[in-house]
Amino acid sequence: MTESEDLPVVEVGPVAHGGHCVARLDGQVVFVRHTLPGETVRVRITDRTSRFLRADAVEVLEPSPDRVEPPCPYAGDCGGCDFQHVDPAAQRRLLGTVVSEQLQRLAGIERDVEVEELSPVLGWRTRTTYTTDRHGRTGLRRHRSHEVVDVERCLIAHPGLAEVPALSWDPGPVEAVVSSTGERLVVTDSRVPRDLALDGLVDSNGHRRAGRAHVREHVSGHDFRVSGSGFWQVHPQAAATLSDAVLAGAQVGVGDHVADLYAGVGLFTAFLADAVGETGRVVSVEGDPGGHRDARRNLHHLEQVRLLKAPVERSLRDGSTLGALDGRCDVVVLDPPRTGAKKAVPDLARLGARRLVYVACDPAALARDVAALQERGYRLDSLRAFALFPMTHHVECVAVLVST
Ligand SMILES: C[S@@+](CC[C@H](N)C(=O)[O-])C[C@H]1O[C@@H](n2cnc3c(N)ncnc32)[C@H](O)[C@@H]1O
Repeated sequence: MTESEDLPVVEVGPVAHGGHCVARLDGQVVFVRHTLPGETVRVRITDRTSRFLRADAVEVLEPSPDRVEPPCPYAGDCGGCDFQHVDPAAQRRLLGTVVSEQLQRLAGIERDVEVEELSPVLGWRTRTTYTTDRHGRTGLRRHRSHEVVDVERCLIAHPGLAEVPALSWDPGPVEAVVSSTGERLVVTDSRVPRDLALDGLVDSNGHRRAGRAHVREHVSGHDFRVSGSGFWQVHPQAAATLSDAVLAGAQVGVGDHVADLYAGVGLFTAFLADAVGETGRVVSVEGDPGGHRDARRNLHHLEQVRLLKAPVERSLRDGSTLGALDGRCDVVVLDPPRTGAKKAVPDLARLGARRLVYVACDPAALARDVAALQERGYRLDSLRAFALFPMTHHVECVAVLVST
């Protein structure tokens, strides 16, 4: 009998948020990675809590028809991808199920969600954070671990970044960036000696420290400067796809007053400014000083834009967001970080906007905030979901809420 034959076998149930599926073992809930609903798999337990177990599928006894050979040889070992073993169309079905389930469970909303496809499904990651361990190995992190998997080439990384920077950095993260205009840079806290500069990856200034470098991005007629460590949408199609979805959802007219909250370097602000025209007003609120600085450069030519550098919650509570809109807010766009906008919701609802367009990278945070907004005079109108992070369990949603 081999070692793995000692391991337990489970029947795998539905997909759950986070890249795993739910199974039961001796009455306990087990979250199993590297599997699919309907499969029978042998599992190795990786973690136990008082409420549930975590496990990895190590042998598939009955495969799902949606299972494919992972294109990446590091799948299962490297923590970067969750769904390399799943056909891309089935990945989108799984993500749609997760979004529906979160809406149902946290906001009481019954809705089927179809996740829209974006290509490419490999070679899409224009920002990749590699990690260097204390032995000088640079690679990607193992799932739920600080250990580094020595990866020669990451298949979801953009071709411009796929080769792992083969430098001996100080221990810590190394962020590699390639922009839509083809500029590349590496952002790291370690000092990068000039003679080790990789073929164009570290620019000719030699020493590069986090936040100092920037790249230029181009989206449907607008140019944006983004500091190396600042936020920018990762999939090459993301910035244009989300800007279009936000504009379609916002239904902004000439002369409208709009708040763009968690605005980053001003991606949505620029398109909203076009839509409201010179007689309208857009306030762009961003908390990160670097993002705000970039936004100032990106938007300075747009007279109808006001910029606030402040935490969104504070700018709503102290009235500066509404003040910058001369006391009138017709539409709000918000694109908070993964944790959502829980603290901002009460004051957000008091702005009195007719529509809220909520861009969310975590469906659980979105569903929680939609539930809170439902209690404050809004209802979910449309919801679109996009496969902006193929091979991973992440999904982006654009939800439109209307005042009731
Ligand atoms: C998901 S990004 C969205 C940026 C922008 N909408 C875009 O698409 O490029 C979220 C942004 O919110 C900012 N942020 C996070 N928490 C914040 C807060 N409490 N107040 C203001 N900005 C915040 C981050 O610095 C980041 O730029």
